[in-house]
Amino acid sequence: MDTASIYGDHLDEMNLVMHHTMNLIKQGAASIKENTGMEPIEHLKGRIKDEESMREKCRRQNLPETTDSALNKLFDSIGIRIVCSFLDDVYAVRDFLADCPDIEIVTEKDYIKNVKPNGYRSLHIITRVKGYHVEIQLRTISMDTWAALEHHIRYKKSIANTTLIFDELKRCADELASTDASMQTIRSMINENITC
Ligand code: GTP
Ligand code: MG
Repeated sequence: MDTASIYGDHLDEMNLVMHHTMNLIKQGAASIKENTGMEPIEHLKGRIKDEESMREKCRRQNLPETTDSALNKLFDSIGIRIVCSFLDDVYAVRDFLADCPDIEIVTEKDYIKNVKPNGYRSLHIITRVKGYHVEIQLRTISMDTWAALEHHIRYKKSIANTTLIFDELKRCADELASTDASMQTIRSMINENITC
């Protein structure tokens, strides 16, 4: 049996690229904080997609289970999630990434402006860093909590009342989005020193 990694001998370098990108993001967060006085990133996580998930994704997309598929045909072998407290922070971090010389933006999907039918919201950016693809997902804390619950429910096979649950989830997603918008408005008002 072939026990070689689908990533060939790239794993060490992939880890370096992931940590390098996360360090750049931390530097960006520090410079945003200098301007706004608030920490823009609530938390930051990175992962290398595990061997079996990557092989499964290749099979699902009818790609051969090769290093080329894993690194060049699929774009989420290295994944970073940035969770922000406020909506404006999501876009401030995004603008920092776009200006970062080491980070090339390949594609961007804005599921905050173009919400998925199930209510999913996040900003997805495929980047290229030091020759590797890195998928960066940016979202607010509310969006992150919602996505975790939706993911959990989606993979539970034995759920009764699925339609009701997914309708409720959609309603929650929209309520959370409305609260995110209100929180952002309050923060902007405080920053602009507007009194009502
Ligand atoms: P894959 O879904 O990874 O096959 O890629 P794609 O080409 O469909 O890209 P997309 O940008 O739609 O999704 C990429 C990743 O975003 C997924 O792997 C999930 O981590 C996350 N994601 C996308 N849609 C949803 C969703 O409806 N719910 C949750 N919980 N996560 C989602
Ligand atoms: Mg998908």
